[in-house]
Amino acid sequence: GKGEYDHYMLKEINNQPTSLSNTIEGRIDDGDVALEELPAGTFEDVETVQFVACGTSYHAAMYGANLLRSAGISTEVVRASEYASMSGPVDEGTLVVAVTQSGETADTLEAVREATARGARSLAVTNVVGSTAAREADDAVYIRAGPEVGVAATKTFSSQAVTLALLTQRLAADVPDATPAADRETMLEELKDLPEHVEQVLETTDAETLARDTVDSKSYFFIGNGLGHSVALEGALKFKEITYEHAEGFAAGELKHGPLALVTDESPVFAVATGSGDGKTKTNAIEAQTRGAPIVAVSPDDHPLTDVAEVHLSIPDTHPVWAGLLANVQLQLVSYHAADLLERPIDKPRNLAKSVTVE
Ligand code: F6R
Repeated sequence: GKGEYDHYMLKEINNQPTSLSNTIEGRIDDGDVALEELPAGTFEDVETVQFVACGTSYHAAMYGANLLRSAGISTEVVRASEYASMSGPVDEGTLVVAVTQSGETADTLEAVREATARGARSLAVTNVVGSTAAREADDAVYIRAGPEVGVAATKTFSSQAVTLALLTQRLAADVPDATPAADRETMLEELKDLPEHVEQVLETTDAETLARDTVDSKSYFFIGNGLGHSVALEGALKFKEITYEHAEGFAAGELKHGPLALVTDESPVFAVATGSGDGKTKTNAIEAQTRGAPIVAVSPDDHPLTDVAEVHLSIPDTHPVWAGLLANVQLQLVSYHAADLLERPIDKPRNLAKSVTVE
């Protein structure tokens, strides 16, 4: 049941210290990554990686793809529903990675089948043991987030992103010419602290106050670059799903190529910073501010973005790879509280289903 919480979504947001501990459990060994499902050498023949996913899982896939590219592995991310109409080389050197919480999303299953027919090898990254994706793919790795009841995906996003970060280390060690992160040990040490850092966010968040102050706005925009871009897209998706308000996410630098026309003093801009390469996010936040938009920095305390923002949602200092996930927890809470103030049916938004089994 929901226990002390009004909604499953809030329970699942608050469950993240535990679900993330489960995702990580036993998978960091002596400064290295150990995935029992994927022993060393599993991916020796892989040349290129294609992610296929939908919705929130697509945003987690973007996160993972960003990390894989940093490891020198050629990677693309394809919306599963677009896969069949996307031409391009696929062969035995292609690893298609299906990121799917349920393991039952029709578009994602169909993309994997299409890739397999073109000769690719497949891997499912899923929450559900024995799901169709897990059974049909050549390999499966589990995100171990535990059951998620709320239609809006929350704890499964953070567990997907962490699993993909671990997978990146496996691939970087296996794929010829890949370059494992130089600061891998520090990064993995900081990962061990992620559950505690999430706990800190949950205990200190100002998201409810912010939601109350901004809830009668006309539109809500979310911007970020690099890993922050995927978090911005996810922040906007969550917001529109459960509040029914107009929300959009953009790569920070794209704002001035069109969306800026929508920015007014009635459209708060949430600027997501991870502490690495956020320069574009700051300059574009200033552009929006010049047009009257209230700026909300979702960033570590000493980040340059806080100098321009009217409001600051604080995240603990950590490795940039994990900072985006902490920013995402803040955004999950903003969406939740805004939807609650608007008295939306948070766990079952209109027109949406937990698992989309039609194409
Ligand atoms: C958003 C949401 C959906 C799912 C998408 C894919 O909160 O839940 O966007 O992420 O339908 O579902 P899975 O991960 O089960 O393939």
